[in-house]
Amino acid sequence: MNKIPIFVFGTGGHAKVVIDTVRCANKFKLLFLIDDKQNVKNSRVLKCQCIGGRDELLAHRDQVNEGIVAIGNNFVRTEIADWLNNKSFDLATIIHPSAIIASDVNIEAGTLVMPSVVINPSVNIGRNVIINTNSIVEHDCQIDSGAHIAPGSILSGGVVIEKNVFVGAGSVILPGLRIGENAIVGANSTVLRDISPNETVVGSPARSLKKY
Ligand SMILES: CC(C)(COP(=O)(O)OP(=O)(O)OC[C@H]1O[C@@H](n2cnc3c(N)ncnc32)[C@H](O)[C@@H]1OP(=O)(O)O)[C@@H](O)C(=O)NCCC(=O)NCCS
Repeated sequence: MNKIPIFVFGTGGHAKVVIDTVRCANKFKLLFLIDDKQNVKNSRVLKCQCIGGRDELLAHRDQVNEGIVAIGNNFVRTEIADWLNNKSFDLATIIHPSAIIASDVNIEAGTLVMPSVVINPSVNIGRNVIINTNSIVEHDCQIDSGAHIAPGSILSGGVVIEKNVFVGAGSVILPGLRIGENAIVGANSTVLRDISPNETVVGSPARSLKKY
């Protein structure tokens, strides 16, 4: 099988997991890493070299047309993904082979599905989403672009996660709830009600911490 040449944008801790997932997916040939931070140029992460930032990527575009943004922060990830789109790069969808995904699930470009995730039927997942390690997305959930479902989270059936929402590690969202755009759910929270856009909630049961 001809493997698709790919770059990973990012060199941090999350990028390590993404690099490993890209390799495990066995469908891509990872060429290099990209990072705008000058101090990581020519460094290596898991034996893969960072060749530099956006300018260096553009200088290598004859070698590669597809990449994935490996940055956990939803707003930074989305900004870079939009820049890549504007420069006509394709965004890859990367799925770890240990993930269990129902056959009718729709997953859009730029989205990552990490090790040991379970996604049950009739789920829709938008662009540039992270479904992180060992999380469970139950039937009929909708996850909009730029969201991050951190490791070990459970989204019960029919939950709606709007754009750029961050669900902290180990959280549980009860069935049918809606988490509004840009909201943050703290680690290990249990969410019992809808959460407004831009609201941060923490605890079990989750209480409001702040709202922008
Ligand atoms: C929710 C969160 C974003 C808030 O961060 P913050 O705005 O910097 O909040 P602070 O640390 O200043 O804490 C503010 C208050 O909320 C409490 N709090 C913060 N996070 C909490 C949590 N997850 N559960 C319960 N209480 C929490 C703090 O104890 C503090 O309480 P106090 O005012 O009574 O002292 C952060 O604590 C969090 O949970 N992040 C998730 C991290 C994660 O899951 N990462 C996964 C990466 S893959």
